[in-house]
Amino acid sequence: MSEPPALLVDRLAYAYPDGHQALYGVSLTVRPGERVAVLGPNGAGKTTLVLHLNGVLTGQGRVEVAGLPVAKPNLKEVRRRVGIVFQDPDDQLFMPTVRDDVAFGPANFGLRGDELDARVKRALDDVGMAGHADRSPMHLSGGQRRRVALATVLACDPDILVLDEPSANLEPRARRELAEVLLGLDRTMLMVTHDLPYALQLCPRAVLIDGGVVVADGPTRDLLADADLLAAHRLELPFGFRLD
Ligand SMILES: Nc1ncnc2c1ncn2[C@@H]1O[C@H](COP(=O)(O)OP(=O)(O)OP(=O)(O)O)[C@@H](O)[C@H]1O
Ligand SMILES: [Mg+2]
Repeated sequence: MSEPPALLVDRLAYAYPDGHQALYGVSLTVRPGERVAVLGPNGAGKTTLVLHLNGVLTGQGRVEVAGLPVAKPNLKEVRRRVGIVFQDPDDQLFMPTVRDDVAFGPANFGLRGDELDARVKRALDDVGMAGHADRSPMHLSGGQRRRVALATVLACDPDILVLDEPSANLEPRARRELAEVLLGLDRTMLMVTHDLPYALQLCPRAVLIDGGVVVADGPTRDLLADADLLAAHRLELPFGFRLD
């Protein structure tokens, strides 16, 4: 039997409790090892889609992780496999110290002692925050909080990494260092971003979402080279950026 897709989303529709319909039937398949960018204007439904990938939200349609339906009985296993770095780091950080926050996930999955310490140290090193382990996440800057939020997920070593706007708020050097970390991971990755050069650098494939549906899915370079497509969906390359 062939390997199931890392992520399968089939005709996913979702309306928030206030009645606002955010997704109108999103279909998307990600193969193991693929790195896919999710692009789209504000309010397109990107975060809503992400929140379905580990069962924070449940809509109509099918969502599967490595062949496993994202549903109540499977949530523990799904959450072990899929690590989501949320758009707002404050949704991810709630412990008294950075170290406790980063240890929380792997401890929950059963890691203890030296193994746990090593995992925490590595994750903090990866995001350049090892020197801040004893500080309160509440006292960090926005960019530092974002890096710690990423470390909390890296520490869990998930098969599938889902990142919602990972480069937002990062200084250029941290943004570049994060790209190096992500490229070194060799994981399946779904990355929501407004940073089109970042999408191009990190993800060979891109999916464009607007109005709660997928409007384009193909090589990132092809999507970014299509000026009419970008304009129709409020996407803009940075001033002076050239695709070569
Ligand atoms: N809790 C909520 N209740 C009601 N409507 C919501 C809620 N969260 C989001 N929405 C609406 O759902 C739609 C999709 O929102 P979503 O956050 O998925 O967009 P997005 O593509 O992630 O945008 P952004 O680029 O700004 O992060 C928007 O119209 C938004 O107003
Ligand atoms: Mg969003």
